Parts: sequence; C-alpha cells; structure tokens
Amino acid sequence: MYKVSMIGTGYVGLVTGACLADFGNRVVCVDVDARRIQMLERGEIPFFEPLLDELVRRNAKAGRLEFSTELLPAMRQSDVLFIAVGTPDRGDGHADLSALFRVVEDIAPHIDGYKLLVTKSTVPVGTGRKLLERVHEFARPGSVVDIASNPEFLREGSAIEDFMRPNRVVIGAESEQSRAIMQEIYRPLYLSETPIVVTNLETAELIKYASNAFLATKISFVNEISTLCERYGADVRVLAKAMGLDRRIGEKFLHAGIGYGGSCFPKDTEALVKIGEQVGYDMRIVKAAIEVNEERPQLALQKLERLLGDVNGGTIGLLGLAFKPNTDDIREAPAIKLARALREKGASVRGYDPIAMEKVRAAEPEIVLCKDPYEVAAGADGVMLCTEWNEFRDLNLPRLKELLRRPVLVDCRNIYDRDRMEALGFRYECFGR
Ligand code: UGA
Repeated sequence: MYKVSMIGTGYVGLVTGACLADFGNRVVCVDVDARRIQMLERGEIPFFEPLLDELVRRNAKAGRLEFSTELLPAMRQSDVLFIAVGTPDRGDGHADLSALFRVVEDIAPHIDGYKLLVTKSTVPVGTGRKLLERVHEFARPGSVVDIASNPEFLREGSAIEDFMRPNRVVIGAESEQSRAIMQEIYRPLYLSETPIVVTNLETAELIKYASNAFLATKISFVNEISTLCERYGADVRVLAKAMGLDRRIGEKFLHAGIGYGGSCFPKDTEALVKIGEQVGYDMRIVKAAIEVNEERPQLALQKLERLLGDVNGGTIGLLGLAFKPNTDDIREAPAIKLARALREKGASVRGYDPIAMEKVRAAEPEIVLCKDPYEVAAGADGVMLCTEWNEFRDLNLPRLKELLRRPVLVDCRNIYDRDRMEALGFRYECFGR
C-alpha cells in the first residue's frame, strides 16, 4: 500500500481520495481552501454525492484518510501525488492550467529521491509532457520525478459506484517504476478483472476527451434524429431502443431531450475543438455535436410557445434545475439556460429541484424557488420538466393540472406518455414523439 497525497478536494479529488483510502492506501487530501478542509475534518461534504459522506467518515475514522492545507509536509510523506486541481475554461475554450503548474513548481524543488506525480484533472493533450519538462527545470539534482496521466470517468451522482466498478482504468505512464506503482494502487480493481489500459501520456490524455466527446455526439445524434421523428411521425423512444439493441451501438446515451449539460461534456467538447485547431485540424463532428446541443433549449422554448403563444408577462414553472438527476450541480444545466431565455422573453420563472435549490438561490436569484412541484404549478401558465428526477416520474398529474392556470406541460426529458397526458386534459409536448 502506498502513501498518497490528493491535491485538490473538488469533486474528482475528494471522490478519488476517499476511494483510494477505501482500497487501503493512506491518503492525505490537501487543499488551499482552509474552510473546506475544516468542513471535511468535521465529516461535512461540500457538495452532494450519494454515499460519499459515509465513505469519507469511515476511512477517516480508520485513520486512512486525512485532510490538510499544508502541501509540503503532505508531499514529503507521500510516494505518489495525485493532482486534481481545477482546470477551468479560461473564457476562450482553453483550459486554465495555472493551478496545476503552480503545484508542480511548488513541490518540485523540495523533492528528494523518487516521487510520482499523477494528473487526475482533465488536461489538454500534451500537458503531461510539459509538466515533465517543468519538473526537470525545478527539481533538485539527484531526485527522480515521474509524471503519469490517470483520467477519470466518474459520473456525478454515481461516482463511487463508477470508481469501484469502472468499465476501465486508463494509465498513461512511461517508466517501469511509475507503471508498477499505478498498477499496485489499482490492484483491487485489477483483481476484479477491470481492464487496465496502460499507454503513453498523450494517448491517456486524449482517451478522456475522445470518450466524453463521443458520448456527447451520441446524445446530439439522437437529438437530431428526434427532430426528424417529429417531422415524420416516428417515435424516438422506440427508435433509440431498437438502435441500442444492436450491441455495436449500445442502448446508453441515446435519450433524446433538451440536451447535455454539466461541467464536463460542454467544456470537453469545446476543448477538443481547440486541441484540433492547435495542430491545424478541424474537428467537424464534435463542432456539429456542440451546435446541435446549443439549439436544444431554444427548441424546448418553441414547443412551449406553440402551446401557449407569447410567454411575455406569463409565469413558467421549471421542474428540475440540476443538469441531471442525483446531483446538485447546475453548471451548464439546460434548465438554467431555459430560465434565462424565458426571462429574456418577458416571462417570470419559478422552479423546484430536490437537491440543487441552494446552488440556484446563490447563482440565479431571479428564479423564484418553490417547496415542491405543486407550488411551482400553482397559478403558472405552464410547466417544463427539465430534469428526470425520480420524484417527477410519478407526479399527481390531476392535482398538477388543477393547480395550473393553463394545463401546459413541456416534457423536456420524454418521461410521460402523450396519450395519457392528453387523456388527462394536458396540452403536452415532448421531444421526438
Ligand atoms: C460525464 C461522463 O459520463 C463521465 O464518464 C465523465 O467522467 C465525466 O463527464 C467527466 O468528464 O468528469 P457527467 O457530466 O457527470 O459525466 O454526466 P452524464 O451522466 O454523462 O450526463 C451528461 C449530460 O448528458 C446530462 O446533462 C444528461 O442529462 C445528458 N444526457 C445523458 C442526455 O441528454 N441523454 C442521454 O442519453 C444521456
């Protein structure tokens, strides 16, 4: 078992740190944010992720998981340092890597002997190689530092399950020693026969972008087909099911609707276009996937307007505000894009989400928050179902309809049946059916 430092206690860092501790490694999670570290020491998790609080508490209690604001002492006691600091969009589609390079520059001059630095953050292709050069510039003579890339494929809302039972683990590592250490760290997964792909730095970095962009493209593809379904009277749910039965295609990520959001697909698809540009290659398919996704909230709005006419002066309710169920993350959430578009058209917007309300209150104060779906509906001119939370799957529809000023429901996630909704007296729209 290794001693591990996890630098950065954001989503990826904290989940990975807690899971590596659960594998039996001794992990210290480091962050510059003292308040966050204090929270974690009290066993409080700064964001919502099922099962994570239990995992953190259990491993902290067993003495395998610690928290600290001190980078250098953590570095000295660790064999392996995972770097999971933020790499936000600089505003021009390029990732801001300053936090990542700062960590490396801060620790490299203090390293004695051997250390392995592993990038967990999603970084542009070529970053690992640049980090290696930077380390060599800053390192003491006689020390040996390796860089490895270990991209994550965790989904928010099921991150622990994804970590413990992944489809694959990708390791970009180029020395014998770094490969051996990484394989040992992931030994419990190796024993459960998880495929472990060991490759060079660039391939590992690109696997991450290619995987996310492919999934985003799959969603945009089925979304485009859903528009064809509408024009020709076909049903996209049946179509996607039949497509998915072909094992070469697969059933996952073929749900048509209002499009993808979150902190990953939008950022990583944009980044892949830039990665192509930098070497003079035009990533046409990914660009088209982005374009199709960007028009989805607008299409949802048009559906609402077809049912309601002008929304100016009206009140529209949004059911679900997080970018997907089981998370409180509202980054790039289609619901938030819709709320902004509705306000631009002169409508007032109210909403409810089982978990994301606090985040919405802080970031989008114009959205009036309600205590449940029925308060959202009361007196509204229509509701739009934006996130397929389980509790929206069996709403008391007659009650919802009674409360609405006009019985309009736009089902942006395709969870209800048109016939049933119309039999209940709703004016109903969905995608591709
Ligand atoms: C995604 C990837 O699935 C993870 O493998 C990856 O590790 C992660 O990004 C990352 O790069 O960190 P995540 O953003 O948590 O994970 O969410 P997903 O479950 O992939 O959903 C993304 C978006 O696509 C959501 O808005 C969801 O509603 C939408 N979606 C998904 C659809 O519109 N249709 C589908 O069929 C599936």
